[in-house]
Amino acid sequence: MTKRLLTGQVLSFAADPFHAPLDEAVQVDTAGAVLVEGGRIAATGPAAALRAAHPEAEVTDYGQDLICAGFVDAHVHYPQTAIIASWGKRLIDWLNSYTFPEEISFVDPDHAAEIALRYCDLTAANGTTTFVSYCTIHPASVDAIMAEAQGRGQRIVAGKTCMDRNAPEALQDTAQSAYNDSKRLLEKWHGVDRLSYAITPRFSPTSTPEQLAALGALWAEHPDCLMQTHLSEQLDEIAWVRSLYPQARDYLDTYEAHGLLGPRGLYGHAIHLEPRERARLAEVGASLIHCPTSNTFIGSGLFDMAGLMAEGQRIGLATDTGGGSSFSMLRTMAAAYEIGQLRGTPLHPAQLMWLATQGSARALHMDHQIGNVAVGMEADLVVLDLASTPAIAQRAARAEGVWEAIFPTIMMGDDRAIRATWINGRPA
Ligand code: GUN
Ligand code: ZN
Repeated sequence: MTKRLLTGQVLSFAADPFHAPLDEAVQVDTAGAVLVEGGRIAATGPAAALRAAHPEAEVTDYGQDLICAGFVDAHVHYPQTAIIASWGKRLIDWLNSYTFPEEISFVDPDHAAEIALRYCDLTAANGTTTFVSYCTIHPASVDAIMAEAQGRGQRIVAGKTCMDRNAPEALQDTAQSAYNDSKRLLEKWHGVDRLSYAITPRFSPTSTPEQLAALGALWAEHPDCLMQTHLSEQLDEIAWVRSLYPQARDYLDTYEAHGLLGPRGLYGHAIHLEPRERARLAEVGASLIHCPTSNTFIGSGLFDMAGLMAEGQRIGLATDTGGGSSFSMLRTMAAAYEIGQLRGTPLHPAQLMWLATQGSARALHMDHQIGNVAVGMEADLVVLDLASTPAIAQRAARAEGVWEAIFPTIMMGDDRAIRATWINGRPA
């Protein structure tokens, strides 16, 4: 088996920098190396020692570039690739004006395949190695993204979006067909190579209680699957949920009452939570997915990272393309930083990097497989050029310490900062 040795500055985590002191949680080896063999990380350590121990390894020297775990984007809509950056609407209008018309075109499997390919190219160019995607209601939209990722050896999670009301007729399934199609797709893709299936009710307003219950039943039959949905993104949406589910105690209860609250649940946005919702989410150990560029772009609100972390919530980070305005997890980290500032709680660059890698992987219960540079982990890596533009280079040149060298790339970096993306032990 070919051994490859990547040398450069290597960033790895020993603990969660939200809950452990920085010097214990994170390490940057300025003359480090990563040995990759058979799609896994076989060793990490000082470059000189690993070169000496593995003289047969093919060496790629990344110089002063930063080698870290590939980015894990915990909430995206790949079918919205072509409508990213659509102007001027808030959530419900934005769905009706841009999103639903585009999703209707996924009835054509060739269109789905074309956008799946485009999406995977764009994310690889941005250093993202794993993403969790909503598809459309069309089963072929799931086949398209799964097949594309499978061909690249990529670890992804995806699921058929289910909607049986409050959406155009062409985008509606039924409670029964959503159950049947999701079950068939799950049996086809879940656990095949590096692919996982997520049961995917879009959100409570576009599902009847019958559909939520059918998908809750499917999840109970397949508890090892993830379940993804949206929760408390905008105030208008929450008011709409209240009117559609008058018996529910709150938004979360619309899921809870139908078997859709569990530790493997991913709840996107989770901005305007009630105290009961926060307590239940923490008690269950469910995952909240922070989508900062989306939350500012659609005008949704400011996620309470510091408060939710202090409560011990499990939190991942995501672009939410195309409600989010970027494919880049660097840009997404920058937006998370800015939202932290607006709440008076700035995030340390180590915390931002953790959220984009280990934190998101932990939200997916995949932190033992991806999201860190450590022996035995799958070899999904991103190599960052910390001087990718003149503006970044001149700031990084003044850095006192490694975090000051990394932070300008987090705040100002984009796909030009991505020197290389390695997926499954191979350069993408
Ligand atoms: N809520 C329900 N569907 C969507 C979607 O596609 N994007 C966002 N941002 N929120 C949603
Ligand atoms: Zn979303």
